[in-house]
Amino acid sequence: TIIVLDFGGQYNQLITRRIRDLGVYSELHSHKITAEEIKALNPTGIIFSGGPNSAYAPDSPQCDERIFELGIPILGICYGMQLMTHHFGGKVEKANHREYGKATIAIREANDLYKDLPEEQTVWMSHGDLVVAPPEDFQTDVTSPSCPVAGMSDPSRNLYGVQFHPEVRHSEYGNELLKNFVMNICKCEAAWSMENFIEEEVEKVRNIVGDQKVLCALSGGVDSSVVAALIHKAIGDQLVCMFVDHGLLREGEADSVMKTFGESFNMNLIKIDAKDRFLSKLEGVSDPEQKRKIIGNEFIYVFDEEAAKLEGINYLAQGTLYTDIIESGTDTAQTIKSHHNVGGLPEDMQFELIEPLNALFKDEVRKVGTELGLPDEIVWRQPFPGPGLGIRVLGEVTEEKLKIVRESDFILREEIKKAGLDRDIWQYFTALPNMRSVGVMGDARTYDYTVGIRAVTSIDGMTSDWARIPWDVLEKISTRIVNEVDHVNRIVYDITSKPPSTIEWE
Ligand code: XMP
Repeated sequence: TIIVLDFGGQYNQLITRRIRDLGVYSELHSHKITAEEIKALNPTGIIFSGGPNSAYAPDSPQCDERIFELGIPILGICYGMQLMTHHFGGKVEKANHREYGKATIAIREANDLYKDLPEEQTVWMSHGDLVVAPPEDFQTDVTSPSCPVAGMSDPSRNLYGVQFHPEVRHSEYGNELLKNFVMNICKCEAAWSMENFIEEEVEKVRNIVGDQKVLCALSGGVDSSVVAALIHKAIGDQLVCMFVDHGLLREGEADSVMKTFGESFNMNLIKIDAKDRFLSKLEGVSDPEQKRKIIGNEFIYVFDEEAAKLEGINYLAQGTLYTDIIESGTDTAQTIKSHHNVGGLPEDMQFELIEPLNALFKDEVRKVGTELGLPDEIVWRQPFPGPGLGIRVLGEVTEEKLKIVRESDFILREEIKKAGLDRDIWQYFTALPNMRSVGVMGDARTYDYTVGIRAVTSIDGMTSDWARIPWDVLEKISTRIVNEVDHVNRIVYDITSKPPSTIEWE
């Protein structure tokens, strides 16, 4: 294991990702972790991340100084190197200009960290401070036009620092440098793979659960699907899955869940048909926030009611991911998302939680899903909001409007797939604005609904840009929707980014 100490830099998760890609397990931890806690984790190496602070400022994030005495190899990146410098009595100063972007470095002392790397290479820089003098016993390994010390080390103590960011792709040999640290200096073995992960987790789940039962709320989304498949592999029929159909799903979705899990995997799967219940609660409600609340609450009521009917279940499985944990877990993280997993379970239900994916990143979860035999349509499913089509029918939700959204959305998905764009566009769907306009069809005047197409590119949904779908693809989608979906006579394409818009229309 390589542990990464989080000093608040924007690339911290990326460092962990890169190490895992080398086949070595890596975790992000708060910079406040103590030397004893680190010892208990028994890591083979430690990486200090970058961060926005100045190492010499009085209230800047520090680390437990005894970490340097553990004899574990340390690589400091950016702020991490400056912190190391400050600790050992070297000199860190404010740079004349903030440096942000590509730079060329020259390697002066080729120690193990730079093994087999070219003397000159392009790296990614992002810093406001710099090291002007390394500490005593440290040598300058690397220089750049703007940094007299772009890399330094004390190989006798296995301490290394770099000013640039090897974890960023723009650093030409960044991956090789990280590999040198992990493999040559820390002497790790590449044993982290999704096959090994599945084997170990299956074993763990069996040990925890014994002959007891586990409940899993299946939504058809990637995370809950992979959790279900993994636990099913471990304990078979001791897993009970519950799938609540709130009637706000896309065309074919409920069937696909039933087919995959009920038939192919032959799981113990209970389908709750709660369509009428949700629709009647939504009757006459047009305020978006109120709709969301109603759907969210109703989901919990239904789940609780149905779970209470089951007997002898001790565990509840959830698809919590590593990002859910680090986003609320380390001290410097900025974005905190509330869990969208099943919450609000009644107090008298004494479930214990099992979260077998909580060490994985999303793309690792996808690999596990494929490895477990889940179909691509589930493993590569685009994000879908909990309130479902309830927030894509603007204003009051009715059966008629849901039908229009479902049918138009199905056509959109079909055409995007045919055009080979389904993995490039992050999320795409149709929405039904609460408006009608005049059209002409077969010599007759029409007064019908407008369907909006939304398609965006994004990394995490926090920001997005509208997808540049080729016009001929858009044309085909537009023609098909108007011809095939009743009561639609106009199609519009949403060309706003987020911000200022949001991805969903409600
Ligand atoms: P917005 O519309 O806020 O959406 O730009 C950002 C991303 O979040 C999804 N979304 C939700 N996901 N429950 C969810 O699980 C929700 O209530 C919810 N609302 C929006 C949305 O589809 C997009 O991917």
